[in-house]
Amino acid sequence: MTTAATASGGNAGQRGVDAARRAEILAEPGFGRYFTDHMFTSTWTPDLGWHDAAVRDYGPFRLDPATATLHYAQEIFEGLKAYRHPDGSVWLFRPEMNAARFQRSARRLALPELPVEDFLTAVESLVRTDVDWVPPTGDEHSLYLRPFMFASEVFLGVRPANEVTFAVIASPAGSYFAGGVRPVSIWLSEEYARAAPGGTGAAKCGGNYAASLLAQREAIANGCDQVAFLDAAEHSTVEELGGMNLFFVYHDGTIVTPELSGSILEGVTRSSIIEIADDLGYKVIERQVGIEEWRSGVASREITEVFACGTAAVITPVGTLKWRGGEVVSARVDEVSMRLRQQLVDIQYGLAPDGHGWLRRVA
Ligand code: COI
Repeated sequence: MTTAATASGGNAGQRGVDAARRAEILAEPGFGRYFTDHMFTSTWTPDLGWHDAAVRDYGPFRLDPATATLHYAQEIFEGLKAYRHPDGSVWLFRPEMNAARFQRSARRLALPELPVEDFLTAVESLVRTDVDWVPPTGDEHSLYLRPFMFASEVFLGVRPANEVTFAVIASPAGSYFAGGVRPVSIWLSEEYARAAPGGTGAAKCGGNYAASLLAQREAIANGCDQVAFLDAAEHSTVEELGGMNLFFVYHDGTIVTPELSGSILEGVTRSSIIEIADDLGYKVIERQVGIEEWRSGVASREITEVFACGTAAVITPVGTLKWRGGEVVSARVDEVSMRLRQQLVDIQYGLAPDGHGWLRRVA
């Protein structure tokens, strides 16, 4: 018997909280602190394929100490949100893009690909089951969904696992950064790289995030909120933050974002911003951005705004870029980024027309 991961009926989150406590949590959810009553799980083996799919009570996995993912990090994940609209209905934003990226990540980590329809069914059935956990409309709160997949086979040999667990958990979410939407400060990591050419940078796997943590700690020690990584080969081209893509606004209104180099995550928010900016008449260019261009562009005011984006962070202006021995502060930190943010959030919450057909109704 190889089964290492079984969802027990335990209560690691707030399972069974009453409506009053849930309302308190939904009023101030923070990020990643509270979890809903249920989770979705299914298992893959070479002989049975995907099987045993069900929404179960939220609870801990029982993991054998020799479970492969604990040793070799054969693991991937996704992040997407369910939004409640003013009429009470609940919608997902571009979940098909997450499903497709999950497949690409799986391929890179030698995990089995989950069919797009199975991904959507898993996410939707969990949201429908825990629909009372989708925060009310109005405060930009949402239900953050975290699909993930890991090698659950009990085996210490180094090879792709022959038993894999897929799960989705859900967590009510407010602002990713403490203090709401405010300009964040960025520490430039000149020593550490997040991803190398040919590596896993374009996949959403836990290892990329683990690789960012020491640099993130350095950022905090230097009074910054987040860390920015450069390309691993030359340390000269801007890639992304620990978990967010970057955009630069130039004084003529042009918007530039680092091109997908193979070691940058293809963000759903990144892609949506490119389209929304185009809709609003901005010229958007995907190209390499040198670190000197960032530093001198902000100093000379050629670059007027810098912002970070991601599902969790939405769009967050960058105020300061700091490095060992210097810093530059953006001139305007909100005009274009806040316009794009408002349009994105309005689409997500059903307050602006969904001209691209990005929303998918769940409840
Ligand atoms: C997301 O934005 O959904 C992510 O997965 C990034 C993570 C740092 C929370």
